[in-house]
Amino acid sequence: MEQLRFIMQYIKRHKWQYIGGIVTLFILDFANLYIPKVTGIITDGLAAHTIDKNGVLKNIGIILAIGFTLAVGRFLWRYFIFGASRSIEHEIRDNMFAHLETLDVEYYNEHKTGDLMTRFTSDLNAVRMAIGPAVIAAFDAIVMTVMVIGQMMVYVNVKLTLVAIIPMVFIAIGELYFGKIMQKYFLERQDAVSELTDFVQESFSGVRVVKAFVRERSQIKAFAEANAKAKTKNLKIAKLQSIVMPLLDVVIGISSLITLLYGGYLALSGEITIGRFVAFNQYITMLVWPMLACGEAINMFSQGGAGIRRIQEVFEEQPEIADRADVEAVDRIKGDIRLNHLTFIHRGHSEPTLKDINLDIKAGTTLAVIGRTGNGKSTLVNLLLHLYNTKPGMIFIDGKDINSIPLKALRENIAYVPQDNFLFSDTLKSNIAFGTDDEEMEEIIRATKIACIHDNIIDFPNGYDTIVGERGVTLSGGQKQRSSIARALKKDAPILILDDALSAVDTDTEEQILKNLKENRCGKTTILIAHRISTIQNADIILVLEDGEARECGNHKELMELGGIYKDMFEKQQLEAAKNLALSAT
Ligand SMILES: Nc1ncnc2c1ncn2[C@@H]1O[C@H](COP(=O)(O)OP(=O)(O)O)[C@@H](O)[C@H]1O
Ligand SMILES: [Mg+2]
Repeated sequence: MEQLRFIMQYIKRHKWQYIGGIVTLFILDFANLYIPKVTGIITDGLAAHTIDKNGVLKNIGIILAIGFTLAVGRFLWRYFIFGASRSIEHEIRDNMFAHLETLDVEYYNEHKTGDLMTRFTSDLNAVRMAIGPAVIAAFDAIVMTVMVIGQMMVYVNVKLTLVAIIPMVFIAIGELYFGKIMQKYFLERQDAVSELTDFVQESFSGVRVVKAFVRERSQIKAFAEANAKAKTKNLKIAKLQSIVMPLLDVVIGISSLITLLYGGYLALSGEITIGRFVAFNQYITMLVWPMLACGEAINMFSQGGAGIRRIQEVFEEQPEIADRADVEAVDRIKGDIRLNHLTFIHRGHSEPTLKDINLDIKAGTTLAVIGRTGNGKSTLVNLLLHLYNTKPGMIFIDGKDINSIPLKALRENIAYVPQDNFLFSDTLKSNIAFGTDDEEMEEIIRATKIACIHDNIIDFPNGYDTIVGERGVTLSGGQKQRSSIARALKKDAPILILDDALSAVDTDTEEQILKNLKENRCGKTTILIAHRISTIQNADIILVLEDGEARECGNHKELMELGGIYKDMFEKQQLEAAKNLALSAT
């Protein structure tokens, strides 16, 4: 079993805890057995008048001592085994998170947050139940059953025992059979729970859109559907369980009946004493709980198995983007970038997003990329960050193939402002210091001043300690963009990429930021992606992307002289600006 192998590697690390717990359990069950025996002795003694008051007291003393041992033992095995299962849960959770951090963005494009969250919560919980309480229940049940049956045979009567336990064999077979079906049902249920979690997560993240489009009702309806689906799956499990329980009762009832009839007959015929008959009846009731426990354990094992399967799926996923064996250590990148017939197809697309792009820029150049949306601008910079794989020989940084540069070194040398500027729900200070380990105030302020956000921040009541809402919702679009720019500038990397990062910033501030960048990024490479020509017209090289092809390339003057797409765009935007100016004048 794959699942078993997976979990055993963790259990092995805690084997002493498990051994300790199981040994305690063993001792406990042994102690437990003496209670009926002592009761039997007292009963027989009283019946035959061979026991006096002191004898009874002595035996009661023994029962008390056993009770005390039981209490201590119960604490110990809980401590050992629950402790181990909690530790393993913690280790798996740590490992799973660490593993997920290594996976590519592509993985996250294809897997939903809610689904991953479910694996961290309810699946992991099911695993913990299977390696904690279920282990105890199963061992306890097996040990108890074997010992009790042994006692019944030795102390009371072999024939009576055999007759009484025959019905119980059916339970064991039935439980194994139901366990298999159960695991299938649990997998289905977990998938439904994942879907539900996904829905909730997305609905809450998108609450602003939902409200703006007055979609609350349809959201409630869709939620109710997902919720009902989860309920159906849960009911399916409950139905199966509710068949098992009464069956168990029937079997136990039959056993008791047989004991009474056959045991009574044996007692009457003098083959066993009344005391042993009494003890036997106690033994039979002692078998009820192991039977129930076994059922519960199988239940928990099935759930845990399903949980492990879903957790394993995460671990089986391997990053496609990883350092090749022949990467060369790089410390500081200079910032030369060369694209050589760069062609790239997104997964699931048939047409290339980028087609045969050639470009050669030296460190210190400001490169602008312009083009309509969907023309591959963001894809191009994602490739420079090696977020997607490209064939060897297509992208060179400092003359080295990008595939031969360690990922860590590459990304440490690139400061990136993504198009969807994500901020964490933390203080502005921590958000800006994010790319680095220290929270040097001086450095942060240097960056925020370049990004023209410093004055805004100090105007906030809490200044740099202002907590931004989830994904930065409490900031305006322009403030968010400028905070993201500051975060990138704090890194002071040889390559800076601004992916449409000034779109929500007014033109005056934009001009100021561009001026600051020019002063501060002397000798370093900067890549600007924008829609507005005003943003990029002073760039050293402007690349015009159209349908994924590099249609035009040159500086502003050259492109204007060329009289192509760029000039066309420029004139349209000029006209637009003049119109706006005229409108605002009236
Ligand atoms: N992760 C992705 N998987 C598949 N296709 C993608 C992905 N990201 C972008 N695309 C596609 O690639 C094309 C270019 O997108 P993008 O680079 O974001 O354009 P731009 O930044 O110029 O607006 C689009 O057609 C888009 O649908
Ligand atoms: Mg884009």
